[in-house]
Amino acid sequence: MTDRYAVIGNPIAHSRSPFIHARFAAQTGQDLVYDRLLAPLDGFEAAVQAFVRSGGRGLNVTVPFKEQAFALAGRRSARVEAAGAANTLSFDSNGWAAENTDGIGLVRDLTVRHGVALAGRRVVVLGAGGAASGVVLPLLDAGVRDVLIVNRTAARAVALASRLAGAAGPNASIVGRGLEGLDAESAAGALLINATSAGLSDARLPIADAVFSAASFAYDMVYGARPTAFLVQAATLGCPRQADGLGMLVEQAAESFRLWRGVAPQTDPVYRQLRDEIGRA
Ligand code: ATR
Repeated sequence: MTDRYAVIGNPIAHSRSPFIHARFAAQTGQDLVYDRLLAPLDGFEAAVQAFVRSGGRGLNVTVPFKEQAFALAGRRSARVEAAGAANTLSFDSNGWAAENTDGIGLVRDLTVRHGVALAGRRVVVLGAGGAASGVVLPLLDAGVRDVLIVNRTAARAVALASRLAGAAGPNASIVGRGLEGLDAESAAGALLINATSAGLSDARLPIADAVFSAASFAYDMVYGARPTAFLVQAATLGCPRQADGLGMLVEQAAESFRLWRGVAPQTDPVYRQLRDEIGRA
């Protein structure tokens, strides 16, 4: 029987995940279908249960349900436990298991696609919501030396840093501050990652110009047909390299696919196809 998968969220109409997983399935000869599921804002759990009753095997979870997906799962990896948010659910006879593949997706995009060496590096993460919480520990696992989390609401950055530091162990350096605490000195040579949702509305972040010229690489988890306001700022103000989050999207999908199907798809052809399509849109 054809196995069923889907991406669940609200809104969901513009999700590229069905395209990506259909390409992965064709490439690896896997017999599966992958749909979009729009869940009502107050109806995530009911939608998940209906999906299981119809034979569903796995879900990717997107905004605003990642925390609920985490809470709903009976089994959680250490990684997802630290993140507090799940983007991948797998269903079998033991119930739901939760994973978070965003961090590994980001690490692979940075290292494999963009050739960024993470060992010994400093990372500044902008934002302290679900997008930020999933990527910090995988970055440290990949060799990053220290992480500074900065957020508009300073208290959220401080709370996230202390929660993640507890999960990361004694050798990890994770510090949280308000956005105003980010200066050229703390950004010197750093990989600057925008994990805020400001890019979705094209809002400019209140960051000093000198921060961008001090950083060595600017990465926006958001992607689009044109560079985001954050990436334009970075390029204009002298940050030597920039990338958007399209590669992370494809890589996190590949890791979900591997968890579900036990086979790792090739990501580059799908990435290139998506980049072309987005550019034409
Ligand atoms: P997500 O799951 O996408 O991370 P979230 O949990 O709502 O969504 O978090 C959104 C993040 O973007 C937060 O860090 C938020 O800052 P606050 O905690 O201060 O709200 C940040 N953010 C959103 N819009 C922003 C803006 N215009 N300027 C600065 N930060 C912004």
